[in-house]
Amino acid sequence: MLLEVKNLTKMYRNDMSLSLFRPSARREKAVDGVTFHIRKGELVGLVGESGCGKSTLSRLLVKLEPPTGGDILFEGQRIHPLRGAALKDFRKSCQLIFQDTASSLNPSLKIRTLLSEPLDNYYSLTRAEKNRKISVLMDKVGLRTELLNRYPRSLSGGEKQRISICRSLLLEPKLLICDEIVSSLDVTSQASLLRLLKQLNRESGLALLFISHDLEAVRKLCDRILVMDKGKIVEEVKNAEEPVYRHPCTARLFSSLLVNHPKERMTPSPASDIIGMEPD
Ligand SMILES: Nc1ncnc2c1ncn2[C@@H]1O[C@H](COP(=O)(O)OP(=O)(O)OP(=O)(O)O)[C@@H](O)[C@H]1O
Ligand SMILES: [Mg+2]
Repeated sequence: MLLEVKNLTKMYRNDMSLSLFRPSARREKAVDGVTFHIRKGELVGLVGESGCGKSTLSRLLVKLEPPTGGDILFEGQRIHPLRGAALKDFRKSCQLIFQDTASSLNPSLKIRTLLSEPLDNYYSLTRAEKNRKISVLMDKVGLRTELLNRYPRSLSGGEKQRISICRSLLLEPKLLICDEIVSSLDVTSQASLLRLLKQLNRESGLALLFISHDLEAVRKLCDRILVMDKGKIVEEVKNAEEPVYRHPCTARLFSSLLVNHPKERMTPSPASDIIGMEPD
């Protein structure tokens, strides 16, 4: 098993009072007793309404924040006690690409430095080896190498998102957590990114936790889909089976996909039509 999540909980203290003299804090469960697993090479989707706890869960999974309770095991090892070299190994194997690229790419660094950084942290490569690795991957994600001498501010949203993906993929992770990585892209860029993820999964067994509001894309990309509602995983939808939406939240989310003919759908997803992928 690649990832096991057991009864995971995250509470935040939210100050409800505006008065300095009568402080009152309310503890809110952003993640509430979540249990699931991801096998090696599996493509798992995570969907749910805004604010249900998807991004919080993804931050817990890569040890960016400590959980309030529960456990996360990566390749059978609890991640909570990991320190030093073991933590560095885990960080290399389990990568998160953020919802918001603006906060994940340092604006004062050139793209060349942003892409060299992860390689310098984990490998001792010559400059030529580094350049080769970077240009091969840039080509794979559809980026021109002339971007290397530019700063993030001069890149389009789609290019920045691909640079973030490159930074993660250079480390050859075993699990990639993608938090809404296609939402800011145009239809064609979305489609080619999804094709790339599927290709990497086939070629190198990369496992994915793919968080997205584009349910049709999630259905076409993923083997199974976890549905989250108010901090809990309320249902798991298997792609191979005709979906039965038992939980009202799943029914609400998937209602736009229930009509068989694409023309009759309420919210068609052009990206998934273009990628033309059938569920495995
Ligand atoms: N650092 C924090 N402090 C307090 N509350 C937080 C913090 N981070 C998240 N929350 C709260 O936790 C809940 C879940 O937020 P989260 O960002 O995980 O939702 P989400 O499912 O990713 O939503 P979206 O689809 O809009 O990205 C929200 O109510 C949010 O306000
Ligand atoms: Mg989010």
